[in-house]
Amino acid sequence: MSTAESSSLRARDARVIANIGRLRFSPLAVVGGVGNRLIEEGGRQVLDLSASCGPAILGYSHAGLAAAVADACKSMAGASLLAYPNENAVALAEELLRITPGSGERRVWFGHSGSDANDCAMRVLQAATGRSRFISFIGSYHGNLSGSMSISGHTAMTHSLPRAGLLLLPYPDPYRNNFTADEVLKLLDYQFATTCPPHQVAAVFLEPLMSDGGLIVPPPGFLKALQDRCRKHGIRVVVDEVKVGLGRTGKIHCFEHEGLEPDVVVFGKALGGGLPLSAVVGPKEIMDHAPAFALQTTAGNPVATAAGRVVLRALKEEGLAANAERVGNAFMHGLRALGKDHSIIGNVRGRGLAVGVELIDGNTGEPVPVVTTAKIIYRAYQLGAAFVYVGLRGNVLEFTPPLTLTEAEVGEALGIIDQALRDVIAGRVSDAEVAPFMMW
Ligand SMILES: Cc1ncc(COP(=O)(O)O)c(C=O)c1O
Repeated sequence: MSTAESSSLRARDARVIANIGRLRFSPLAVVGGVGNRLIEEGGRQVLDLSASCGPAILGYSHAGLAAAVADACKSMAGASLLAYPNENAVALAEELLRITPGSGERRVWFGHSGSDANDCAMRVLQAATGRSRFISFIGSYHGNLSGSMSISGHTAMTHSLPRAGLLLLPYPDPYRNNFTADEVLKLLDYQFATTCPPHQVAAVFLEPLMSDGGLIVPPPGFLKALQDRCRKHGIRVVVDEVKVGLGRTGKIHCFEHEGLEPDVVVFGKALGGGLPLSAVVGPKEIMDHAPAFALQTTAGNPVATAAGRVVLRALKEEGLAANAERVGNAFMHGLRALGKDHSIIGNVRGRGLAVGVELIDGNTGEPVPVVTTAKIIYRAYQLGAAFVYVGLRGNVLEFTPPLTLTEAEVGEALGIIDQALRDVIAGRVSDAEVAPFMMW
């Protein structure tokens, strides 16, 4: 390795950052960002089709966000919401309650990540209801802390055991048709009648569009039917909007597509526009369960919540949900057109700018091996676009770009994806090149 290589950001990163916290799908190492592009060492700009795995919904270096964060730092109203209220946190909570449908008195809790927010929701639901069991889905990803991990059903979580009493249901996948909606509901009824008495269940955690499990849009009516069954038994409905909430799917909340009326809504990623910020919105009688029950010193601090206020304002004033719907439809249309030339594209699906492309062996219909998916992502990076893969078989390209993506950028993205598919099929990327980037 030359001196320049060994002192590169990527080489230094490899020497000091722990592998347990990395999910690197390409050699991209960033020194800056502007609009919908990341700037890598050396100055090349890469079109970001992932928004850094979701949070950067305003893109990078958004002037309003930068100004609000700088202002919040100039005369910092403390650094801890648990010790004293600050204007940004309280105003953000007021706005979250305003935009989140729900009835009765509700309260907001702030955290730093989707993981801590799901952990908080679980813990308080268990304590407040006196019920200790949860329902979630095979393929779901709710986070990487002890609680959120223990109710996740992703293959990336199999290193840790699910929590005792967890009922994991299949998430019906209309493309694979592994289980129909009716079959899953029948299984739930059977569990309720036998080994999972519903009075033991505090809540069901659901993703209104399964993200890390493969960008699966549930069959129409399935989640609503599940909600109705749970409601009958006093089981609370928790909707995890961490990845797909706040405009990404063309509506402010993804659950609105499904006709859901959640008891508890969990926000993360986009809420901070890139700063660490999450929130749980739920009924007062649950969220006020006991003082000093879910304390994190710097959660709800005035800097992160200043960013949150800008995000919610931009959603409203910059028409981001409408843009996500329009540009997302153009993107999906273009990807489906690519499918005519590429038999590896089995299915294009999503809502708005939460888009998945399932890659298959064109002869058998089976998922491609993960190495093939990794090669496409690697080659696309070389050609100038960044995105990641998801899915229990690692064969789904995931696109969750900033909601500011333009139609011109969609055209650019489609050109890069087309070329990347051609190059990988022609064998222009080796197994050795992508070996370090096969993550899950
Ligand atoms: C649906 C969902 N919930 C929760 C999380 C965890 O969020 P975080 O990584 O911010 O802790 C993720 C992360 O990908 C997610 O997709």
